[in-house]
Amino acid sequence: MRKQNLNMNILVLGSGGREHTFAWKIAQSQKLNKLFVAPGNSGTDAIATNLNISVTDFEAIKDAVIKNSIDLVVVGPEDPLVQGIHDFFLNDDAIKHVSVIGPQKAAAELEGSKEFAKEFMMRHNIPTAAYESFTKDTVEKGYEFLETLQPPYVLKADGLAAGKGVLILNDLNEAKTELKNMLVDSKFGAASTKVVIEEFLDGIELSCFVLTDGKDYKILPTAKDYKRIGEGDTGLNTGGMGAVSPVPFATKAFLDKIENQIVKPTVEGLKKDSLPYVGFIFIGLIKVGENPKVIEYNVRMGDPETEVVLPRLKTDLIEVFQAMGDQTLSKVNIEIDERAATTIMLVSGGYPEAYDKGKEILGIDKIEDSIVFHAGAKLQDEKVITSGGRVMAITSYGETYQEAIKKSYQSIDNLRFDKMYYRKDIGFDL
Ligand code: AMP
Ligand code: GLY
Repeated sequence: MRKQNLNMNILVLGSGGREHTFAWKIAQSQKLNKLFVAPGNSGTDAIATNLNISVTDFEAIKDAVIKNSIDLVVVGPEDPLVQGIHDFFLNDDAIKHVSVIGPQKAAAELEGSKEFAKEFMMRHNIPTAAYESFTKDTVEKGYEFLETLQPPYVLKADGLAAGKGVLILNDLNEAKTELKNMLVDSKFGAASTKVVIEEFLDGIELSCFVLTDGKDYKILPTAKDYKRIGEGDTGLNTGGMGAVSPVPFATKAFLDKIENQIVKPTVEGLKKDSLPYVGFIFIGLIKVGENPKVIEYNVRMGDPETEVVLPRLKTDLIEVFQAMGDQTLSKVNIEIDERAATTIMLVSGGYPEAYDKGKEILGIDKIEDSIVFHAGAKLQDEKVITSGGRVMAITSYGETYQEAIKKSYQSIDNLRFDKMYYRKDIGFDL
């Protein structure tokens, strides 16, 4: 068992709204000594010390951990996990005592490889879409398989492709062409060396977030995000334009199904397969009829889902993380705020394609009824300027999600930057 520091030094890795939310929640804990974020943003700068280090520069992270006597590292994004940051810590005597929140490399393959995730689900009888996977050598077989399916056709690059690796196509010939583009012409580079072709599932999506210490699990509130750039869920996919928690259609009976048919077999499956997992499991689900099916696993929290899930967590987050590191999660009581939380993402005009950066963001100081989580925003000469496509997430609480959404939109009326865009219909489909 690790020593239980009364006051911990914590490092959060990442620079988005998710990481600002982690930092915001950690900063509320009595158990915090010093908080660092690498590389962070203008939001984390106000409540923590930002370190100018990339999330995949493991050597620089190690140096910072030693220099700042870090006790616990929270890994925000998937890249460092899939690249094995947790293993890197465990294999180095100088830092192996540090708790890392995030799975080891072998388990991070649940997000790092779609085929690995599908095989895991098949092995453990976890409901998901039927599939087959193909490589350059079996592309002809891939065309034949497509011919046996009904449109739309779902093609998924096996590896990480910055959220762009899934194509959903209505036309058979187009699907064949894209399959060739991915396998033969490396459309997504090494990520599309293999392609998973999946049965299309028709239903409404939601996400379930699970904490595990590798032995036990706790379920966090559900959330629904809005991935498309345009209103009415149209246009290009983005990292997420807004989110709502809890998901109104996730009734007790439906949540029980998720727990019994998906969460339990997932955590048991990790154990049976000896996949070491201390961290968050983000299960992307689709409700088909009355039944949940898994669309994907992510080995981290969602962004912007974190911006609505963590604000509803009443339990001290450092206490939760300590219990995860010590494998005593079963003893922790996870308390959830009954109120709804919603977030609206402000983005730079043009996102998810080309957009400008460096625009000053005005009005943040006028926001009173919402929490402003910074994402692609940084400080320059005391001004907050845009530095990314997704700029900030405006989170509000409400007795109902409608009330919370209304508050976020009222707060946004105070904010402005050149070419600011946001969806005005978050929650429209609920
Ligand atoms: P993913 O990157 O796996 O989250 O996929 C991106 C999006 O594609 C998901 O959020 C779904 O909206 C959609 N999607 C993925 N797989 C399927 C499927 N089998 N059936 C229907 N939609 C899917
Ligand atoms: N909002 C979706 C994700 O974080 O992957």
